Amino acid sequence: MKKVDVVLGLQWGDEGKGKVVDVLTPNYKVIARFQGGPNAGHSIHFAGKSFVLHTVPSGIFRDGSVNIIGNGVVVDPVILADEIAQIEAMGIDLTSKLFLSKKAHLILPTHRMLDAASEAAKGKTKIGSTLKGIGPTYMDKTGRNGLRIGDILSPEFKERYERLKSKHAEMLAQYEGFEYDVTEYEQKWFEGIESLRRFPLIESEYEVNKFIAADEAILAEGAQGSMLDIDFGTYPYVTSSNTLCAGVCTGLGVAPTRIGEVYGIFKAYCTRVGSGPFPTELFDEVGEKLRAVGHEFGATTGRPRRCGWLDLVALKYAVMMNGVTGLIMMKADVMNDFETIKIATAYELNGEQLDYFPFEAADDVKPVYREFKGWNCDICKVRTWEDFPVEFREYVEFIEQETGVPVKIISVGPDREETIVR
Ligand code: GDP
Ligand code: IMO
Ligand code: MG
Repeated sequence: MKKVDVVLGLQWGDEGKGKVVDVLTPNYKVIARFQGGPNAGHSIHFAGKSFVLHTVPSGIFRDGSVNIIGNGVVVDPVILADEIAQIEAMGIDLTSKLFLSKKAHLILPTHRMLDAASEAAKGKTKIGSTLKGIGPTYMDKTGRNGLRIGDILSPEFKERYERLKSKHAEMLAQYEGFEYDVTEYEQKWFEGIESLRRFPLIESEYEVNKFIAADEAILAEGAQGSMLDIDFGTYPYVTSSNTLCAGVCTGLGVAPTRIGEVYGIFKAYCTRVGSGPFPTELFDEVGEKLRAVGHEFGATTGRPRRCGWLDLVALKYAVMMNGVTGLIMMKADVMNDFETIKIATAYELNGEQLDYFPFEAADDVKPVYREFKGWNCDICKVRTWEDFPVEFREYVEFIEQETGVPVKIISVGPDREETIVR
């Protein structure tokens, strides 16, 4: 029996998961999202075209692929319908390629309002959420109030929708001064629901396990990153799902014994969008340079991403909890033009040196850096490991040595072609 391989982010999201999934898809029959929702923005570039996917798995552009939106995902029908329309406009027929779990939860228009109201009320301590309604939807899921994709088949769907909406209205009334109007969005929402009816709504846990039994290769596509995990991320500045490998089991119905390779993706540096601890964040011209050269602006919200050096303490933490079997390093090309490059190998807190990610990773955590000589040349055209400059290879080998995991793929540009498999 084949096992389910996993691609997930090891940092604070936007590591380049979309690109990697698209690159790996020819090796897989099935690509499945297992958590998150339209807070994700996964960019794909090929043949001079670019695309940002929010809910649809990144395998969609490859012929013959089966793309599943798993039970752990939360779906906004407006955003999904819009995404589907854009892909179909490219001449791709999705009805034979896209499958939705009946158990995936629906993001209601009022979930988005609750997200906005909660963020506004938090003021300075806001999470910096993507305002897509993610947190409130997962709250209704765990609170056992949620509506699921399969519920759209019920004759009582509208009634249940109205009931949940009124509950939300009561909650929203608690936020003094918060005004909202969902009429317009609601109309698009129901149109979106209607448009989903032509897709197979499936018991995805059965389907996924049938593919496993039939020896078909499956790739699970993570969203966000390990440091945004609801349990192990920089709480409360996290998202509301388990972004770790464990999320594949609960978000697709895959047994832990059926997990195969775990590909952990990281940028050669670090970024974060939204609030919360970021020990290696740079507030100087180096951070500015990383943002400018790396085009570090959110694929979902357009917000500038915070930038900093690679953080090995956080990376090792993520590698440990995900059981990463292979590392994938992205965007090293962004540092082509650096004299020196730093990696944080430990933290200093209250005069003590820490080699673990502390409970309170607030402002007083100072990174301890190791400095590397930059490669200081253009690596975008390199296509074999041997052709990389020695300084670059030393940087990669240091990361392998520290994490104990091989770097199996290196990406030196956004395009499919700009990828080196070792
Ligand atoms: P995801 O959310 O993990 O899929 O990542 P995003 O798509 O949000 O952000 C990654 C950004 O980096 C996208 O704009 C990609 O096109 C781009 N990208 C991916 N890999 C590379 C790379 O190796 N080099 C450069 N320069 N850009 C890359
Ligand atoms: P991809 O899949 C980067 C961040 C938000 C915010 C926090 C909570 O593209 O890597 P939420 O809307 O989930 O309640 O926001 O998480 N965040 C992401 N940051 N990449 C993402 O997805 C993210 N999804 C959520 O900025 O700080
Ligand atoms: Mg992204």
